[in-house]
Amino acid sequence: MSRRGLVAGNWKMNGLIEVADALVGGILAGLEQRKGKNVCEVLVCPPFTAIQSVGKRIAGSAVKLGGQNMSEHKPGAHTGEITGEMLTNIGCSYVILGHSERRSMHAEDSNLVARKMAAAYRDGLTPIVCVGETLQERESNKTLDVIREQVSAIFPHLPADTAKRQQLVLAYEPVWAIGTGKTATPEQAQEVHAFIRQMLVEQLGSDIASKIRILYGGSVKPDNAAVIFSKPDVDGGLIGGAALKASDFLAIIDGFPG
Ligand code: 13P
Repeated sequence: MSRRGLVAGNWKMNGLIEVADALVGGILAGLEQRKGKNVCEVLVCPPFTAIQSVGKRIAGSAVKLGGQNMSEHKPGAHTGEITGEMLTNIGCSYVILGHSERRSMHAEDSNLVARKMAAAYRDGLTPIVCVGETLQERESNKTLDVIREQVSAIFPHLPADTAKRQQLVLAYEPVWAIGTGKTATPEQAQEVHAFIRQMLVEQLGSDIASKIRILYGGSVKPDNAAVIFSKPDVDGGLIGGAALKASDFLAIIDGFPG
C-alpha cells in the first residue's frame, strides 16, 4: 500500500502554553527513543494560542503542526477569525476542518466546510476534512447517506491539480464515539472507510483515490488503536482525549508502524 500512516492529535480547547510545551516535549522525547524505527507521520493540532510555542519546540523534528479550524474568507473585516495563511505563517502544514463539534456547535454545514477546504488549499495547507454520523442517524440506518452528503460536498471545491487532490486527508469520526469511550468496531470503521474510498474512486479515479488517506477518530486509545489501524482502508487516526497524554499518544503512534 502506498499510503503512509498518519496519527494526528486534536488537542481541542486544551493547553495553556506551559501545558502544551510539556506535552509536546514528552512526545518529542518518546519519538527520540523510537529513532531508527518505522514511525508513521505525526501531527499535533494545538489550540491557536499555543501553536507558535509548540512550533518552536518541534522545529527540526519530524512532527508536523496543524490548526483546528480556519476561516473560508480572505483577510479583512472578520473579527475573531483567522486565515489559512496565518496558520502557514506560524508553521502549520495541516488544518482540521468540519469537525463534528464545529458542525454541531458552530453551525458549519458541508458546503461551508468545502469552501474552507478550498481556502486551505489556496493558502498552502493540507486539509483534514472530518465526516461522521450521530447516534440517531446510525440507529435509523442513515450512516452511509450522511457520509455521502458530507463527502459529496467537497468534490466541486477540490483543486484540479492531481498532487493537491492526492494530499487530501479525510477523517471518519462517528459522533457517538467522540469522547464517549465507545469506539466503532474495526468492522464498522472499515465499512465506512471503504464506502468513502469507493466514492473517491468514482469521483477522482482509482489512482488518486488510492493515495488519499482516511483517518479514524473516536475514542482511539492505546489498547484499541492497532486493531482499528489494521483495517485496509484505515490510514491512521485523529485522536482527541488520548492525544493529551504523551505516553498514550506515543502508544497509539506505535499502533501504526510505517
Ligand atoms: P476522542 O479521541 O476524545 O474521542 O476525540 C476524537 C476527536 O474528536 C478527534 O478529532
